[in-house]
Amino acid sequence: MCGGALREFLDLGRQPVSDAFRAPDATDEEFFFRLAVGHCTECTMVQLLEEVPREKMFHADYPYHSSGSSVMREHFTRTARHFLDCELTGEDSFLVELGCNDGVMLRTVHEAGVRHLGVEPSAGVGEVARGKGIRVRTAFFEESTAREIAAEDGRADVVYAANTLCHIPYLDSIFRGLDAVLTGGGVFVFEDPYLGDIVERASFDQIYDEHFYFFTARSVAALAARHGFELVDVERLTVHGGEVRYTLARKGARPVAEAVGALLAEETERGLTEPATLDAFATRVAAIRDQLIALLVKLKEEGHSVVAYGATAKSATVANYCGIGPDLIPFVTDTTPAKQGKLTPGSHLPVVTPDRFASPYPDYALLFAWNHAEEIMSKESAFRASGGKWILYVPDVHLV
Ligand code: SAH
Ligand code: TYD
Repeated sequence: MCGGALREFLDLGRQPVSDAFRAPDATDEEFFFRLAVGHCTECTMVQLLEEVPREKMFHADYPYHSSGSSVMREHFTRTARHFLDCELTGEDSFLVELGCNDGVMLRTVHEAGVRHLGVEPSAGVGEVARGKGIRVRTAFFEESTAREIAAEDGRADVVYAANTLCHIPYLDSIFRGLDAVLTGGGVFVFEDPYLGDIVERASFDQIYDEHFYFFTARSVAALAARHGFELVDVERLTVHGGEVRYTLARKGARPVAEAVGALLAEETERGLTEPATLDAFATRVAAIRDQLIALLVKLKEEGHSVVAYGATAKSATVANYCGIGPDLIPFVTDTTPAKQGKLTPGSHLPVVTPDRFASPYPDYALLFAWNHAEEIMSKESAFRASGGKWILYVPDVHLV
């Protein structure tokens, strides 16, 4: 981000494109890259060391649909209401969302009759949003896209991005675009998995091709300052295993909330981006891998049935790093039609419909979608009632 030197602290090995689910009869060669993470010795940004070309990840068949979780639907409805109440109160307010996916957030803005535009390169999910009446531009947001939007629609009061900015290596272009498309007093609000939570919980599966950056208040403040912006607010979120919502405004345009100083101080106190902290995280990750493999091998030897739940992008990292294949896990259930009938990337676990989970219930279920644990465990309460146990690996390997 700043041109400083990167120091590698974690190598998760050879990994596929995390959302590249494969037809069982596919014959084309799978794409692999080295999934390794480093931190910048100057600005402290934590990031991947290798970049996967964006067209390999985000395309017409991108299978992730944001509306698949009821908790996330509620989260984004609340987010939209907040913008409608606090930022989009003018006569002709305008909100742009980067990575609007299937319209899970913009739906509420659209229903309120407020001017909006979703920028979404993955045409399939964008089409789903269009079906809800949402305005979508099929494009990668970058400087050129932003200039076109500003020329055609005018400047935006809010630019919002959830679980999207961390997917974008080319931040200089993004910020030149934000400068072109935001009004003078406008805000750029984005939320992404928080490095503080990832390190605390050793949730190493947040690391995969799409997640290029792992932000902290400190690295975001440095990023903003490079581009004439300022970090004016932060909010910790519980969704997706722990995130932070960052609010950026042009320097001096808005007062800086106390929460910013508090989070910066907390990060310094924890030594969050110190080499020793990140090295200790890497050591914990290797221990979790060893424990998880040992548990799965033991359960298999004892003759127990074990399946997996939720073919998340995150699970590509776990399965490929730990070497979990169909010999240990016969299938993974998932509600996403585009994933069903396919094989998980690299590890080749068959993805099946959720009804397979109950017929009959397995002895154990590896919860790949651990970030939706509450929602899933309550929906699947009959599994535990039948004597079944969930296997979790965040923040350590344990049974529930
Ligand atoms: N905001 C949704 C979707 C997150 S998935 C949610 O929080 O659930 C990330 C999305 O970002 C994908 O739909 C992907 O197609 C999109 N994306 C990737 N690069 C982008 C870019 N440069 N501009 C806009 N969207 C992008
Ligand atoms: P998620 O953890 O949101 O994201 P990522 O793919 O980025 O790691 O993915 C959740 C996956 O789990 C998604 O494929 C849908 C699936 N899922 C279920 O199968 N059942 C459920 O009840 C929920 C909430 C999700």
